[in-house]
Amino acid sequence: SQKGEDDLRSPICCILGHVDTGKTKLLDCIRGTNVQEGEAGGITQQIGATYFPTENIRERTKQLKADAKLKVPGLLVIDTPGHESFTNLRSRGSGLCDIAILVVDIMHGLEPQTKESINLLKSRNTEFIVALNKVDRLYGWKSCPNAPILTAMKQQNKDVQNEFRMRVSKIITEFMEQGLNTELYYKNKEMGETSSIVPTSAISGEGIPDLLLLLVQWAQRTMVEKLTFQKELQCTVLEVKVVEGLGTTIDVVLVNGVLHEGDQIVVCGMQGPIVTNIRALLTPHPMKELRVKGSYQHHKELKAAQGIKITAQGLEQAVAVGPEDDVEDVKETAMQD
Ligand code: GTP
Ligand code: MG
Ligand code: NA
Repeated sequence: SQKGEDDLRSPICCILGHVDTGKTKLLDCIRGTNVQEGEAGGITQQIGATYFPTENIRERTKQLKADAKLKVPGLLVIDTPGHESFTNLRSRGSGLCDIAILVVDIMHGLEPQTKESINLLKSRNTEFIVALNKVDRLYGWKSCPNAPILTAMKQQNKDVQNEFRMRVSKIITEFMEQGLNTELYYKNKEMGETSSIVPTSAISGEGIPDLLLLLVQWAQRTMVEKLTFQKELQCTVLEVKVVEGLGTTIDVVLVNGVLHEGDQIVVCGMQGPIVTNIRALLTPHPMKELRVKGSYQHHKELKAAQGIKITAQGLEQAVAVGPEDDVEDVKETAMQD
């Protein structure tokens, strides 16, 4: 068959939320990296992309469900900034994704950019899972590194469990005030109507298995059509960057189709379209962040979905354009720099 299960591409998942709720730290915890500590002021200022192969997701979720059927090749996760000044990047990131994680700090509840993110997701009808992060900050929390959340919760004393229940129910009410039904994922009987909440800690890793498994299972169960690989090229430029030794490069998200070394591409430029050929098709290693300098893998061809760095001649004038950005506006902003 032409469009069987084998043709599923990796789902693209965008992480959204208020500043400092732990979006990057959650990714660091899954990747085993330290991207967040290298950020200026601890603030994310660019869109990121990380590819998680299914083998790694299986490894990370086996304690929760060893025989889970994971049908997608992997997961491409897009990190976004939560700082209020980066609405355009949140919009660009959420415009690319199939599914999203909305990160909420359990100690703070819904904050201004949580609400902005909710509105972005609503406007695009994007399904999302809530990561209720920083559970380790509940007073008296006993750390259970990387444990499934119910396993960790059973280890907690009554006071911690009570504080947890109280905070969760308050946050569910805050979501309701935004017109959204939410429920802890292990109690949620009507996924789709009601969004699932997964309690997590990005520091000690509790709930990470739950978050990953729910994400992959939910995507592959409800989005088969959207995730069926298509040959038509769909590719968006995230960033234009000068890299030592590589010249001006573009970081892109390949949503559908295949890119080859040498392919002719057309990129949006300040003075009009740039027609050029792909000189090198690069990716970071799996589980490494595209926006962080590191060593790159070279590829002859790459199949969607992937976060890719492209080197080519004539990219100096290239601009990143989101699906809903007005090209004239982008040109104007680019000229002012
Ligand atoms: P922006 O990208 O700037 O919007 O922030 P972010 O949402 O990516 O948050 P970030 O990963 O930068 O984390 C913010 C701060 O919260 C850092 O000091 C983290 O160490 C801390 N932090 C993140 N997750 C957790 C968690 O689960 N528990 C605790 N205790 N601290 C956390
Ligand atoms: Mg961040
Ligand atoms: Na931060």
